[in-house]
Amino acid sequence: MELTKEQQEILDGSKGEVMAKVMKTLVMYGETFNATKMVPVTSRYGHIVTSFGIFILKGVFELMDELLAGGVTAKQLFSADPRPVDKNVPASLLEKIVFKVMYGPQKRYERQLKEMGLLNEDAFTCACYFDEVGNKPNKGDILSWAESSAVNYANSVLGARCNRNSGIIEMFGSIVGYVPYFGLLTDEGRKATWIVDVRTSTKPDAQLLGSAIGMKVLEDVPYIKGLDKFIGTELTNEACTYLKNFGAATASNGSVGLYHIENLTPEAKEYGEKLIFDDPKYYVIDDAELKWIKDNYPVIWKNKDAKPSLCFMGCPHMTLTELVEWTHNLQDKLNEVGRKKVKIKTVFTTAPAVLKRFSNMPEYKMLKSMGVVVSYICPLMYMNNPLCAKKPVITNSNKLRTYTSSRYYSDAEILDQIVGGKKHE
Ligand code: F3S
Repeated sequence: MELTKEQQEILDGSKGEVMAKVMKTLVMYGETFNATKMVPVTSRYGHIVTSFGIFILKGVFELMDELLAGGVTAKQLFSADPRPVDKNVPASLLEKIVFKVMYGPQKRYERQLKEMGLLNEDAFTCACYFDEVGNKPNKGDILSWAESSAVNYANSVLGARCNRNSGIIEMFGSIVGYVPYFGLLTDEGRKATWIVDVRTSTKPDAQLLGSAIGMKVLEDVPYIKGLDKFIGTELTNEACTYLKNFGAATASNGSVGLYHIENLTPEAKEYGEKLIFDDPKYYVIDDAELKWIKDNYPVIWKNKDAKPSLCFMGCPHMTLTELVEWTHNLQDKLNEVGRKKVKIKTVFTTAPAVLKRFSNMPEYKMLKSMGVVVSYICPLMYMNNPLCAKKPVITNSNKLRTYTSSRYYSDAEILDQIVGGKKHE
């Protein structure tokens, strides 16, 4: 790998031994992927995926201590993934004890993050690109992020450039201010090897469509045709919300870091079919394909007929638009079945900054009176222990379904179930 004079000097120790180790790690990471050079990180802020002080991450806390003791802090401030625990989220006494032990080092870790360069106290969300949060990169910016849903959104919807880095590596990029140049940072790496043709009869469920594409193309870049017919050709709030959920499913059910949607996403609008490599692979998606995929998700509940005990919505975190829309849909549905409150404990998760805004809106009170909790946590962090993993949890998130024992239902099915209406198989 060719390094500039400054980069070579850092590697040789001009900024101290600890910084030299950080640079060496990034160089070795880049060499693994045949990177030709290191390029400057140009986004205003970074984003860190390891936001949770879980006791098994002892090595991370020690690493942070070593970095800070060596006088190393991040060159760019950063947001972080969601906090793991919120006392407002329903949990049994035993589960609360488990959370307390599991996330015992949370305070220590947050102190370390703050010293390292955390943007602010409220900067804990996977959807750091929301306007309310303020970590929204510009088109063409080079990022050092790792959160798969955020990388996917930044690349595809915002036209920024970021690889699917791993946790800690991304923090090292924010510390040094350089990342290795390969993959999705290059023009070539952003070209599509797949054409996906959406031929459904109605607007496809974002989470299902993303799942289908992710499982088919894996880590490749798809160029998607036929979707603009349903979600339009402008990046409106509604379209961005759809793409957030769609993209997170492609990134978790496969490992897609970038997709292009014909006539909608920035690079597809600019370059059109020039973004497609010669001889692409084809994937046609119709109603039958989506039905087959949904019907074949494994259900790993011990008792498949169990009554759901909890419903999580908001993985990735919900937008303000989603919160408002769900509040009204829920209210209408409750009126329809003649009830005042949800029958299943339900938690909507969103970014702390969105929650602040939402809590001043009438819909917040409406949701509370319907018995729904709005929280800032990551549902995965809640489910990630043997006790909660046994609970029959339902969700409309295909990412949460993939990483936990929770069961996926479409939005309409979730609505039916939480108001105590129709049961769905
Ligand atoms: Fe966000 Fe946690 Fe889901 S980080 S995308 S809410 S797994």
